[in-house]
Amino acid sequence: MGKEMRKAELCFDRGIITGDVDRRVFGSFIEHLGRAVYEGIYQPGQESADGKGFRRDVIDLIREIGVPVVRYPGGNFVSGFHWEDSIGPVGKRPHRIDPAWYVIETNEFGLHEFIEWTKEAGTEPMMAVNLGTRGIEDAKNLVEYCNIPHGSYYSDLRAANGSPDPFGIRLWCLGNEMDGPWQMGHKTAEEYGRIAAEAGRIMKFVDPSIECVACGSSGSQMPTFGSWEATVLTESYDTTDYVSLHTYYGNPEDNTPDFLASSVEMDRFISSVVSICDYVRAVKKGKKTINLSFDEYNVWYHSNEADRKLEKWISHPHQLEDIYNLEDALLVGSMLITLLRHADRVKIACLAQLVNVIAPIMTSDRGAWRQTIFYPYMHASVYGRGTVLNTVVKSPVYESKYGDSPYIDSVAVVDGGAETLTIFAVNKNLEDDFELSADLRQFEGYGVEEHILLTGQDLKAANTEENPDRVKPAASNGSSVDGGFLRSVLPARSWNVIRLARRR
Ligand code: AHR
Repeated sequence: MGKEMRKAELCFDRGIITGDVDRRVFGSFIEHLGRAVYEGIYQPGQESADGKGFRRDVIDLIREIGVPVVRYPGGNFVSGFHWEDSIGPVGKRPHRIDPAWYVIETNEFGLHEFIEWTKEAGTEPMMAVNLGTRGIEDAKNLVEYCNIPHGSYYSDLRAANGSPDPFGIRLWCLGNEMDGPWQMGHKTAEEYGRIAAEAGRIMKFVDPSIECVACGSSGSQMPTFGSWEATVLTESYDTTDYVSLHTYYGNPEDNTPDFLASSVEMDRFISSVVSICDYVRAVKKGKKTINLSFDEYNVWYHSNEADRKLEKWISHPHQLEDIYNLEDALLVGSMLITLLRHADRVKIACLAQLVNVIAPIMTSDRGAWRQTIFYPYMHASVYGRGTVLNTVVKSPVYESKYGDSPYIDSVAVVDGGAETLTIFAVNKNLEDDFELSADLRQFEGYGVEEHILLTGQDLKAANTEENPDRVKPAASNGSSVDGGFLRSVLPARSWNVIRLARRR
């Protein structure tokens, strides 16, 4: 007799919801860093490039994901950036050093090009202002340049530069990672809290319809984590709409169970920041709830060694070009599940980044291809629509460096209008398949449309230009509904999308 399959169970109720999915939770990030812009989204003369130099092969892949919002232009880069360098005739734009990444920025691709590109890519801009080496005056001017229709110095300058219509940028980041000692213009929480409050205030004077994201911590391991958020939000509560969170995980010690348990840490990070936001609201006796913008998350470690050897002061080198494998895709899947499980408070999130730089999409002069992490990201964005159900996962756990980690991460998303129910699930167990069950009697008439599976024997398998389809999803016949109960086989080491719909 064969060994009985290990079991896990999902419990949810149609009426008990976590929150509606804000599409912006599937955002991403393009920084002026490495080959994200140059040779990534922009490469005049490349075979697929259009008349504006935008790579259509890359745009096609971005449209396949359906990226709702793209954060720009950094990242660490923004903390030394003069936005005025990136407007006007291209030939007159200065070449500058970028001390954040020790490279030369040519400014050939600038603000107008980015806005044009977002339209082609079917996305919205999320603009960051420089609160590192610059301040509230420049932030004010940039909002005027982008959002005032006409009749003022900067709005007329925008029109003279070829864009009579305002850009209408709604979402603004007040600097980047200002808690980090590596950041140009790094500040204490008190210093940053004051400048964020004043920048947000004056930017909203210019355009009251904008939303502002204040910098939270660059990771929960930061020595100031916790007190940073409390101080910054105490100073800037009135003008801040979201606080940011950033995190990157790696597996340099090749301990896959610990690595895959990182979503436990991410979950704790989110819960802590939610508590701090609510603490500040309580102390302020405020009416406004501060929500979360998880505007940098990913796996990042593969390229560290190569980056240490890079030549300095050249333009767009191969920097932060992590090649992702199957286990990275599993963790990114778990991170997406974690974000969805906090849909009540996480309203924006950006997979960092989008092209070539720690990215789901890679390019060469010849073409573009999907890294392993492309798939969970694309699936979550395409199918994670509607309302997140409060999903209890009954799963055996294992001990990890973050404490107990369930073998199964999962979340259920229902779309009442479309009459669909989608279950995302990761099986982190490296040897055992699991049978996942769920009571679907509240979903009468629903059947399995599709079970998409990403798995493989080799956790280190990756996609390359020569072999772009080594790791790719396949259809599984491991799911069925019988007597009102779902049963799904989640193979060891797998990302699963179980799509159910009401049969007509
Ligand atoms: O995404 C790469 C870098 O990571 C960003 O520039 C910075 O914000 C973070 O430290």
